Amino acid sequence: MTTKGRFRIAVLVSGGGTNLQSIIDRVEAGKINAQIEVVISNNSKAYALERARLHNITALHMSAKKFGSQESLDEELLKVFEEREIELVVLAGYMKLLSPAIIRKYAGRIINIHPGPLPEFGGKGMHGLKVHEAVLSAGLRETCATVHVVDEIYDHGSILLRREVPILADDTPESLAARVLKVEHQILPEVINMYAEGKIDPGKNREDQS
Ligand code: GRF
Repeated sequence: MTTKGRFRIAVLVSGGGTNLQSIIDRVEAGKINAQIEVVISNNSKAYALERARLHNITALHMSAKKFGSQESLDEELLKVFEEREIELVVLAGYMKLLSPAIIRKYAGRIINIHPGPLPEFGGKGMHGLKVHEAVLSAGLRETCATVHVVDEIYDHGSILLRREVPILADDTPESLAARVLKVEHQILPEVINMYAEGKIDPGKNREDQS
């Protein structure tokens, strides 16, 4: 917990930003004791940037292309995180891998939301509808939304919270995606709040928490 006021987070996005919106709404409703210091997207056209601006949150387009190289992007990202004293980096539909330099510096303080069970339905290329198609093909009775710590391996870090979503007989990847997304909107803010309230020690796995 910071002594400087509310817990300061950065949210990284690439697309529509419904998860970002769920965080904004809960912050504004006083349900999360955190403030969104900055929203960053690799995609200048991401509607998520617009959502941030509509709520007077700083919204930045930052990409390797824009800064000339991955190294320059890393430097610029670290600069933004440091200047704004970011305590937690939230990946909410961010489609780029963060560099090891950033992951090491913010070890245990970068989290991601995934729309399926991990590690079984994660990894490179496993995103969006592909996750739900794979889950349906596997014949599972339920799937889940998962919030996990980001480490240097794709979709691999410790799981902080997961919530089950039943699979219905007539589910399509699209219908399942819509129901999982609603659960994502609940659990990502919940985990942010756990950090903000000091209930998660960034140095440890969730299982180690008391
Ligand atoms: C979500 O399904 C999330 O699990 C995945 O990307 C999607 C982002 O959706 N990582 P949105 O941009 O928050 O609407």
